[in-house]
Amino acid sequence: MKALILYSSRDGQTREIAAYIANQLKTRQECDTLNILHAENIEWQQYDRVLIGASIRYGHFHPKVDKFVKQHLAEIKKRASGFFSVNLTARKPEKRTPQTNAYTRKFLLNSPWQPDCCAVFAGALRYPRYGFFDRFMIQLIMRMTGGETDTTKEVEYTDWEEVARFAHEFADLTGKKR
Ligand SMILES: Cc1cc2nc3c(=O)[nH]c(=O)nc-3n(C[C@H](O)[C@H](O)[C@H](O)COP(=O)(O)O)c2cc1C
Repeated sequence: MKALILYSSRDGQTREIAAYIANQLKTRQECDTLNILHAENIEWQQYDRVLIGASIRYGHFHPKVDKFVKQHLAEIKKRASGFFSVNLTARKPEKRTPQTNAYTRKFLLNSPWQPDCCAVFAGALRYPRYGFFDRFMIQLIMRMTGGETDTTKEVEYTDWEEVARFAHEFADLTGKKR
């Protein structure tokens, strides 16, 4: 049996986190990593666990995340499952748990799926890669929340040790009887 990791990423940080988790799992279990936007015709019978990771943009996960969960709810529920969210609010340690991170709390409250494990990771701030409007908006948000405002900078806030810990928590989940 393999593990399935699905990610929703706009600028690549969640994709990198998903790849890092896949690499951590490699020693314990075979793993497929897919972009949730292109995840069609999943052969569920190959997988005994599923992990979904998604980033936040302007307060929202990509709508495909909710859609995917609803569409595949029965299959997800039959398996050990995990969820992680990626955003910049989580650069503050007090906003980095599923309960204290507003996006993640809201997702869990409204979702028909309750994952067996859940994490929130701080993402990356990469001003030079954003277009004019996004750069301006992010700088405004950073100014309001006491973050980095120098638009020449790229800052990665992701704590890779935390990611590794979560990867092992996910791998340790006991399989469900289907
Ligand atoms: C246009 C834009 C809007 C964003 N909006 C939010 C937001 O509302 N809240 C937040 O905490 N982080 C926000 N972020 C930060 C992203 O969640 C963070 O950069 C993350 O690493 C992106 O992951 P991705 O590269 O996988 O898409 C935003 C980033 C961008 C570029």
